[in-house]
Amino acid sequence: MTQPATQRTAGPNRTSPGKPYASASNAATPIAAIGREALMVLLAALLVLPLAVVAQQMAAPGTRAAGTPWRQGAAVAGGLLLFVPLLYSITKRTGLSARPPIWFVAHVVAGTVGLLLVCVHASAGRLLSMPGVLLALVFFLALQGTLARLFLTPRLSQRFGAQPSSFHTAQGVDRARLSELIAHKRAVLGRLDAQASEALFSPTLRHALRHPSLTWRYAMLSARESRLVGARRQGGALLSLWRRVHIALAAVLLAGVLIHVAVVTFFAGYVAVGRPITWWHLAAWGASP
Ligand code: HEM
Repeated sequence: MTQPATQRTAGPNRTSPGKPYASASNAATPIAAIGREALMVLLAALLVLPLAVVAQQMAAPGTRAAGTPWRQGAAVAGGLLLFVPLLYSITKRTGLSARPPIWFVAHVVAGTVGLLLVCVHASAGRLLSMPGVLLALVFFLALQGTLARLFLTPRLSQRFGAQPSSFHTAQGVDRARLSELIAHKRAVLGRLDAQASEALFSPTLRHALRHPSLTWRYAMLSARESRLVGARRQGGALLSLWRRVHIALAAVLLAGVLIHVAVVTFFAGYVAVGRPITWWHLAAWGASP
């Protein structure tokens, strides 16, 4: 079923022509799946934990014991858990999971436990170091995600729910341009995914891999449509910026962890700078003569 241009809804939460936005109280929403109280506890922990790490550093300045066997074990477990959010992102974008909220919860729980384990590991080393920056990044991402889930997403849902104009923003919109844009989107979609309905469709990773240029064109048209109907003005711009920052920093973190692991595993000699190498490694390249 298709919608006339004058009845279109805007924004990423468009669910069906007759039911434009998911309700804020919907049990399937991430905030409901995790619970506000749990998020508040997480927030408190995220504020206290860095202080505990810094206090430990001040109590034993200059310690370099992050590579003792059990702390390295904590690092490996924590590092692996920090990759669960990447799986969440992939399942979300490929549509592989039938239960996205479960994956959302898994990404929060794995991220939190991963952060705790990585703290156990890193707090015994120097924080003023490149890996120390990674620790700061883990904290920042966890804090940013928690604050956004607690304050930004519910506020947006409420505002969309409270304002009829949020559901139907075509008034005052250049309808001729909108109709033209939608016709263009449908034409592209016909080649991208012939079975899909334009009102419900969002490109996934599968589309991007199979038809990169069509997917790019479709995404550009969707962005133009959002701008035209004013979705971004409704506060979506903030959420969209938050999401981009979160994803970009998470990518930097994961790349940083991989580099850190490669360095301590292969260049253990360079890292140890004359100290005994206490951690499991494959090569001690880079040791000073
Ligand atoms: C987000 C994940 C991680 C963070 C934030 C992190 C952070 C840190 C920090 C701050 C140090 C101390 C650096 C120093 O004293 O100069 C360190 C050292 C170390 N890390 Fe990690 N780490 C992470 C993951 C891992 C993983 C997955 C491994 C597994 C191989 C690992 C292995 C080591 C080793 C062996 C050391 C000891 C180096 C030394 O004593 O000089 N780390 N890490």
